[in-house]
Amino acid sequence: MRKVRRVLFASTIGSLEEYQAKRGGEGLVAARQVDPMVLVETLEASGLRGRGGAGFPTGRKWRTMVENRSDRVGTTVVVNGAEGEPGTFKDRSILRKNPYHVLEGALIAAHAVGADRIIFGLKRSFTIEVARVRAAMAEAEATGWSGDVALEVFEGPDEYLYGEETALLETIDGRFPFPRVAPPFRRGVRSAAERHGGARPGVTSAANVQMAGPGGETDAPPALIDNVETLANVPRIIQRGAAWFRTVGTEESPGTIVCTVTGSTRKHGVAEVIMGTPLREVIESIGGGAKEGRHIKAVMPGVANGLIPADLLDTPVSYEAMNAIGSGVGSGGFIVMDDTIDLVAVAAGVSRFLGVESCGQCTPCKQGGLKISGLLADLSRSEADERAFASMQANVAEVSDSARCYLAHQHEAVVQSVLERFPEEMAAHRSGQAPAVPPYLVAELIDINGGLAVVDGRFRDKQPDWTFDEVFSGKLPADRLGEGRYGDWTFKPREWVSVTDSED
Ligand SMILES: Cc1cc2nc3c(=O)[nH]c(=O)nc-3n(C[C@H](O)[C@H](O)[C@H](O)COP(=O)(O)O)c2cc1C
Ligand code: SF4
Repeated sequence: MRKVRRVLFASTIGSLEEYQAKRGGEGLVAARQVDPMVLVETLEASGLRGRGGAGFPTGRKWRTMVENRSDRVGTTVVVNGAEGEPGTFKDRSILRKNPYHVLEGALIAAHAVGADRIIFGLKRSFTIEVARVRAAMAEAEATGWSGDVALEVFEGPDEYLYGEETALLETIDGRFPFPRVAPPFRRGVRSAAERHGGARPGVTSAANVQMAGPGGETDAPPALIDNVETLANVPRIIQRGAAWFRTVGTEESPGTIVCTVTGSTRKHGVAEVIMGTPLREVIESIGGGAKEGRHIKAVMPGVANGLIPADLLDTPVSYEAMNAIGSGVGSGGFIVMDDTIDLVAVAAGVSRFLGVESCGQCTPCKQGGLKISGLLADLSRSEADERAFASMQANVAEVSDSARCYLAHQHEAVVQSVLERFPEEMAAHRSGQAPAVPPYLVAELIDINGGLAVVDGRFRDKQPDWTFDEVFSGKLPADRLGEGRYGDWTFKPREWVSVTDSED
């Protein structure tokens, strides 16, 4: 496989001076010399699509921000560095190697959309990345590189929903990571002073807020939220042009993508590949292929899209090709399952992850999701009773009804893919022919060390009310709104678990 290095640097960049000595910063210099709309047009022409999972065209998003900006209050650029998708470790890899080009991308974005503030949304537990970004910001301020744009790091919670863009904005504003109805171009973040309780008390309520809208005469600016990898692509697009960006990749998915490969492979790792590279090649070059004497049964691209069966392994890793086979690129994290893995246990693991992480604002998602996960866990552990199986199918069909965010659709897509594409696995459990197995551990990656992924083993003890109490209180996270500011909740220290595949 041809190696490319556009956003995942080979060596660690230790200082802003070192970055600039390697021609870093030229994109920002070029950006500051042109009209902001030229930047928006260049991004549109490049065809760059967001690498946070949805693949939304970045230039189009920037244009929407400009159209909805306020004349009175500045827009904020929020860098989404929450990275909680199981099987994904690419944003942290990018930031560890080089936080400067991500910051440069954010400064270019700020210039394009007229923002006066950049907030990096990281997690408190990402101590290495928090330290690197803070140090980069301090250098940028000390040298004047950031101009008059205010820089901030927000250290958020470990919850999966914190990475959902509107939940991220809610958390920055001092509330729980619960998705909003209003998208970021209608409602951004409040000022730092207000967020810290200064100018406007009543921080726990999201009621009576203004919405941004075309026209500009409003005190409610939108927020531009872009993923870490998305922004890491921006400096070179501005420096070298849209046509350069399109020299690799496909028409609809130009450029490269930073992929993570974990699960039943010889090793685990992160690397940058050209968009359109066949999935099999990605798995072989990053993960070394299947283990000795084993063969790949399926690949799970994170927990947002359906499982990919082995006979589709030659599908190109591009948005259009992955969608065409009823799956998706997601955030480029591929969890490989070999012939020793029970896919009903995998479905049970994904379902437990999404059921527990659901916030409970929508009943079918939380209550229905927990029912699915319970029934799948029972199914993988013992012979299923037909009534329970039928009830699970009904819950899967309804789980995304009236869903406020995409998490519920993810639940439906992943479980449905196992039901439809691997009916023999379900049938083996229903007839009692498959051995009883516990759910596969599906949780956030904490690290990839020496070719081995470290999964957040603490998740096994997480309750659906988002506590780590011995017993589930029966409350939903949404029932806990009265319990003060989200940041006051305590964090349970991580328990590190090294796994080569499912350890359970
Ligand atoms: C449940 C859920 C979790 C998400 N977690 C992340 C995340 O950790 N990081 C991220 O960049 N995007 C995440 N997203 C996607 C964001 O909502 C949003 O699409 C993204 O930050 C936009 O940036 P992009 O256009 O650069 O991809 C998540 C979405 C959902 C529904
Ligand atoms: S769909 Fe699920 S996770 Fe999303 S807001 Fe509703 S309950 Fe919360």
